[in-house]
Amino acid sequence: MHTSTALLIAALASVGLAQRPADVSICDYYTEHIFPVNNATNQKAVIVAVVNTAVIGNYTHDAQKTDIAVPGILAANATYNSTSVNLLPYFDGSLASSNQGGAQGVSVNFLDGGGATPLTQNMPANGNSSNQYALLTHLYEYFGAVLGCTEYGKTGFPTYAGETSMYNVHKYMALDAMQVGYFIEQVGLSAASWGVSADDCKIVGTTLEAVFGHKCSAPAAVLPADFY
Ligand SMILES: *[C@@H]1O[C@H](CO)[C@@H](O)[C@H](O)[C@H]1NC(C)=O
Ligand SMILES: *[C@@H]1O[C@H](CO)[C@@H](O)[C@H](O)[C@H]1NC(C)=O
Ligand SMILES: *[C@@H]1O[C@H](CO)[C@@H](O)[C@H](O)[C@H]1NC(C)=O
Ligand SMILES: *[C@@H]1O[C@H](CO)[C@@H](O)[C@H](O)[C@H]1NC(C)=O
Ligand SMILES: *[C@@H]1O[C@H](CO)[C@@H](O)[C@H](O)[C@H]1NC(C)=O
Repeated sequence: MHTSTALLIAALASVGLAQRPADVSICDYYTEHIFPVNNATNQKAVIVAVVNTAVIGNYTHDAQKTDIAVPGILAANATYNSTSVNLLPYFDGSLASSNQGGAQGVSVNFLDGGGATPLTQNMPANGNSSNQYALLTHLYEYFGAVLGCTEYGKTGFPTYAGETSMYNVHKYMALDAMQVGYFIEQVGLSAASWGVSADDCKIVGTTLEAVFGHKCSAPAAVLPADFY
């Protein structure tokens, strides 16, 4: 991953992209324009960059070649549509985010694998046994699917079959419309900060809204039911 990431960083000087053909996925299209080769390793590097930036905010300005600032999902003092949003307590264990229908909430620290620092090094976590590792690698998996990476599941972009059962109790976070809106906005901003076109960012946003948006007025599942 590190070699790939270095290539990604070296290659991100925006390649005046033509419009993406309808039959090429967002993941494949940007991977093949950033790297010489559209393969699993490189697709994963693109997904890691987009996910890590969405989570912690933009961290490698020199590499990105855009001036799009991304505050990040973990930003404590965020705003969405003029409303204050703070998703950090859902991730740092300070909030007992409840499961659905259970009698009591469960507090889980998802930043137990080194927090932001390994993410700035294009990794999910330090080591591979933390909640953080499980969450981030699942996000890579999820966004690899959402963005249509055709090489997902092959060597270089593995599926992560790790600890899953521990998350069953923590499947839902009751996010309101502004919190979901902020989450989706950060993903879109992150993609844009890596050079994804406005049209393609809109497609990503619309896809995520279709997954999350229809539940926004009631307590919303932040992740699809089969996510973990
Ligand atoms: C984030 O993006 C903004 C806008 O381009 C930039 O000013 C800032 O330096 C970036 N931060 C990091 C840590 O790269
Ligand atoms: C958030 O903003 C408030 C008021 O502007 C400030 O008092 C607080 O320290 C900020 N918190 C963080 C984590 O930046
Ligand atoms: C986790 O890391 C250890 C030590 O580096 C390694 O032996 C093991 O194969 C890794 N497990 C997974 C699931 O990646
Ligand atoms: C993908 O291509 C890169 C060169 O861009 C290469 O370093 C890497 O090993 C390739 N990955 C796979 C899985 O073939
Ligand atoms: C936020 O504002 C935009 C633009 O006014 C609107 O389209 C969107 O529905 C708003 N989001 C929420 C969650 O209210």
